[in-house]
Amino acid sequence: MRSSDTLLKLKVGVAGVGAIGRAVCRALLSDEGIEGLILHRISDLKGHGDMSIQNADFKTLARECDLIVECLPATQVPALADAAFEYGRPLTLISSAALLLYPDILEKQKGTGSRIYVPSGALAGLDGVKAMKEMGIERSLIASTKPPKGFEGAPYVVEKALDLAGITEKTLIFSGNALDASRAFPANVNVAATLSLAGIGPEKTRVEVWADPAAKGNTHEISVSTAFSTLNVRIENMPDPANPKSSVLAAQSIVTCLRDMSRAIVIG
Ligand SMILES: NC(=O)c1ccc[n+]([C@@H]2O[C@H](COP(=O)([O-])OP(=O)(O)OC[C@H]3O[C@@H](n4cnc5c(N)ncnc54)[C@H](O)[C@@H]3O)[C@@H](O)[C@H]2O)c1
Repeated sequence: MRSSDTLLKLKVGVAGVGAIGRAVCRALLSDEGIEGLILHRISDLKGHGDMSIQNADFKTLARECDLIVECLPATQVPALADAAFEYGRPLTLISSAALLLYPDILEKQKGTGSRIYVPSGALAGLDGVKAMKEMGIERSLIASTKPPKGFEGAPYVVEKALDLAGITEKTLIFSGNALDASRAFPANVNVAATLSLAGIGPEKTRVEVWADPAAKGNTHEISVSTAFSTLNVRIENMPDPANPKSSVLAAQSIVTCLRDMSRAIVIG
């Protein structure tokens, strides 16, 4: 690569190099790469020296990079967002539940010039939901089904002392709105948070969480209706081998979001 090519590229900083962040880094570092972008820094508590990309704290990441990609636990998002806003950097944010859990993030964003991009994650059909919002959505529901093990450690499971190992058939373990679902299962229902942000908001978006011992992967079914259209989408994702709570598709939704930034034609 000529040094002039490098100079023309936007510098990307990836915060969180676990299952999802690592896949995004791989795409950026691959021979094909992502047009117009170059991986400049990572930020992870564990380092990941094998990637030969310098590890930095959030503030350094935001100061040195043109674009920040968030792949952290939701609890760490406010600190990263603060750093991104301080330098007016665009933030691609996969932990969408954080936007519901920490509404301050959107308050602090105001007037900073920073924009937040939320990829579709493990979900599909958001293009339709966004168009339907223009017509007035009457009803928006998401039902997520995972193997019981996928819910281990969730605040709701701990608080209610749910016996996940004792579940022998498909069981509804939670029903409520997207805000309460995000509090109950912050690492499992980013899809519900994203649907609510694309559609009729966290209070009106209904969420069902199912535990199914026969499930091999994570399934999300959305049903959204307006006076003129009804959308029913079902997506079945195999769990990410690097983190069973995540799906491989989530990382690739970030990659396509990054590719869209330089595509001559953007679909959806
Ligand atoms: N939107 C969606 O549809 C969707 C789908 C799957 C996962 N997610 C979310 O994406 C996020 C990442 O998921 P994952 O599977 O890669 O998680 P992961 O646990 O595999 O990786 C998280 C990484 O963040 C690092 N980290 C934690 N605290 C940090 C800090 N303060 N500073 C720097 N690094 C820190 C950890 O060391 C780890 O490497 C999670 O919040 C998850 O809930 C969203």
